[in-house]
Amino acid sequence: MSSDEHRREEPDLKPWIAGMPKAELHVHLEGCLTPQLIRQLAERNNISVPSSLSSLDQSSGYSFHDLTTFLAVYYPNMAVLQTEHDFRDLALDYLTRAHAQNVKHVELFFDPQAHTSRGVPFPTVIRGYRVALLLAQRTLGISASLIMCILRDQSPEYAMATLMEALPFKDAIIGIGLDSDERNNPPSKFAAVFQRASKEGFLLTAHCDIDQVNSIDHIRQVIHEIQVDRIDHGTNIVEDDSLVDIVREKGIGLTCCPISNSVVTDDFKGKEIVDLLRRGVKVTINSDDPAYFRGYANENMEKMATDTDVTRKELVQLQRNAFNISWISSWRRNHFLSLLDEYENRTIPRMVNGV
Ligand code: HPA
Ligand code: ZN
Repeated sequence: MSSDEHRREEPDLKPWIAGMPKAELHVHLEGCLTPQLIRQLAERNNISVPSSLSSLDQSSGYSFHDLTTFLAVYYPNMAVLQTEHDFRDLALDYLTRAHAQNVKHVELFFDPQAHTSRGVPFPTVIRGYRVALLLAQRTLGISASLIMCILRDQSPEYAMATLMEALPFKDAIIGIGLDSDERNNPPSKFAAVFQRASKEGFLLTAHCDIDQVNSIDHIRQVIHEIQVDRIDHGTNIVEDDSLVDIVREKGIGLTCCPISNSVVTDDFKGKEIVDLLRRGVKVTINSDDPAYFRGYANENMEKMATDTDVTRKELVQLQRNAFNISWISSWRRNHFLSLLDEYENRTIPRMVNGV
């Protein structure tokens, strides 16, 4: 019997993962828009339900086969987000679900250009999200911050103008990221925008999606030209030992998303994630667009646990990596790490061989 089969039979695996203190560093707020919330917001705003929902299969969900086909459903669905109240409800809906999964800290991407490009003012978006984060912190005790993403398939000028719009809201935004369609949109296109963002005090990250044309080249650009603090996805570094060494030595964290990978490529890249973990790279497990890919923090951890040979100690290490590469104060980091240590000590010694 393989170790995979052995773990699949462990009845306490799901509750053990559910009970673990966790952090999520790669979740798109607009990717938390569930079909149920889309319907509610469409009704509230008196607009028609987006066409993607009429062909939605209730049991298997949306059907995508790559990043481009996913984004073709993702952006039109955002039409239902119109008022500050809508953005607040979206963020609160996700934060409530994350809290129920024992997620202690989240860093949430948002795409202002997906809204300003259709006439929704930047302050409407950020004020709605900001109030939700404050409410969730106060009522649920979940720690959360925002990362503003630049749409890489738009112009650098529009990106710079969006960065300028964000400056009055600096207190609410911890970092700047890069997302959307990577094809023909290398990170270097936005070097000046990232340079300005860094000067303004923002931390930096960028998507290097899985198995893209020029993946390796784009990863080199984000490290050397953009000088990112983290990389979102980035698992393709496994193809190049020198890149693995650079990422490990610089302490650059990777925010990996197993279920998302399995939807937009033909593999969830679990083996590669475990390989990188064992080579000392700070890989983490995240949900990306949980309403679309049908998996939140726990389900992504479960996928790693059941479909790879990762041990329980290593599953804890994946969450330790997340707290270590998160953009939080050191006292809060230490608090979460001590919760995790306590959980590991309390639950793992009872296991046979730590698996
Ligand atoms: N990649 C790029 N853009 C995105 C993604 C992603 O995984 N999710 C939402 N926007
Ligand atoms: Zn993403």
